[in-house]
Amino acid sequence: MNAIEERFRKQTVKSAQLAERAERVMPGGDTRTTTYHRPYPLAIDRGEGPFLFDVDGNRYIDLLGNYTSLVHGHAYPPIGEALARAAREGTAWPARSRAQIELAELLCERIPAVESVRFCNSGTEAGMLAARVARHLTGRKFVLMARYGYHGSYDDLELGLLGHDGERTLLGEFGRADTFEQLLGQRGSEIAAVFLEPVLGSSGVVAPPDGFLQRVADAAQRSGALLVLDEVITLRLSEGGAQKIFKLKPDLIMMGKIIGGGMPVGALGGRAELMAAFDPRERHSLLHSGTFNGNVLTCSAGLVSVRELTQQRIDKMEAQARRLAEEFKRLARQSEIPFSVRQFGSLMNIFFTNVAPPATMVREDLRTMAQFHLAALNHGIFIAPRGLIALSTVISDKLVEEICERVSAAMADVARQMA
Ligand SMILES: Cc1ncc(COP(=O)(O)O)c(C=O)c1O
Repeated sequence: MNAIEERFRKQTVKSAQLAERAERVMPGGDTRTTTYHRPYPLAIDRGEGPFLFDVDGNRYIDLLGNYTSLVHGHAYPPIGEALARAAREGTAWPARSRAQIELAELLCERIPAVESVRFCNSGTEAGMLAARVARHLTGRKFVLMARYGYHGSYDDLELGLLGHDGERTLLGEFGRADTFEQLLGQRGSEIAAVFLEPVLGSSGVVAPPDGFLQRVADAAQRSGALLVLDEVITLRLSEGGAQKIFKLKPDLIMMGKIIGGGMPVGALGGRAELMAAFDPRERHSLLHSGTFNGNVLTCSAGLVSVRELTQQRIDKMEAQARRLAEEFKRLARQSEIPFSVRQFGSLMNIFFTNVAPPATMVREDLRTMAQFHLAALNHGIFIAPRGLIALSTVISDKLVEEICERVSAAMADVARQMA
């Protein structure tokens, strides 16, 4: 055991005890693959604004926001109040609520390609719904997506992240429109939908090269496949999502994370004539049920979360992210460790190689990344084990300075370890 792990274990004795208890009742003590890391993940006691507190009383500056979903930090008072009100009045009922309609209206108002919405409970479900409606409308079987793209843990859409195609899944290369054009040219009559994240999230915050998204959109349209833009992460990038930044007109949009204000959520939106496939007044409509679809708690919290994510706040987060990216590079140079970072809006991914790798899940720097992740925790900084960072609106400029000091100390620990 090295000094970084030793310190981690020393600081997190109660988390270790809870890890043992969790391992007795959950495989690996966990219930979410991405959040697991060695030697054991922390047990969190509470969150408040930009901070997380673990069961040992350590404070962390949260730079992940539950994987980009808590865009206003933890226990954001206006969301807390909306939730408390909803909880007092009943949390879910098998009929529509005002909150549900208001959230749908807000999404239609803000996001250019959303004319009609259907709620579900996760981004994964939004992807499943999108695949179903595309197959239903086109009578085709395949989905086409980017290698190392991620659209949730549904078999047909998970293959991309694993890096290989399957019985109903074809893969193009993110950033290379020709690979999508070729597949759509050759097998277009079998492809129901093209799924695309406008900026790749899980495989390292990869921005699309100029013209890539539009070329894929055009090729999809030529072959009669629907374009499903996965905005589960990227809705935070502008008031109208990434589609507004890249001037795209997708047929369907997967939504999630920030539209639930911290509660479980997913939604499919898009052109009204396509979404009409779900219209229960039609005899042959698609069956889409879910006990908690559009529940009052989620919609009440989501309404506040989306409404309060103004362009001004989005711009502030972006400025802070740019500053952090530059500072991190400078600190790494100071510590003489290989380092690179990709940043887009309030999203960043850090790497411990001199050049950021292309979109991939297979990284050369996994060992150093794991060491830095633990060292960062030791110094009170919470990021994803794979280096994903997502800022929130409650991070002050003063806190940005504190983040830099803490990251500097973590980098120094890693440099000592590498020496
Ligand atoms: C781009 C993207 N799509 C879909 C999903 C799946 O969403 P959920 O975790 O809510 O099922 C995620 C989750 O991280 C995501 O990043």
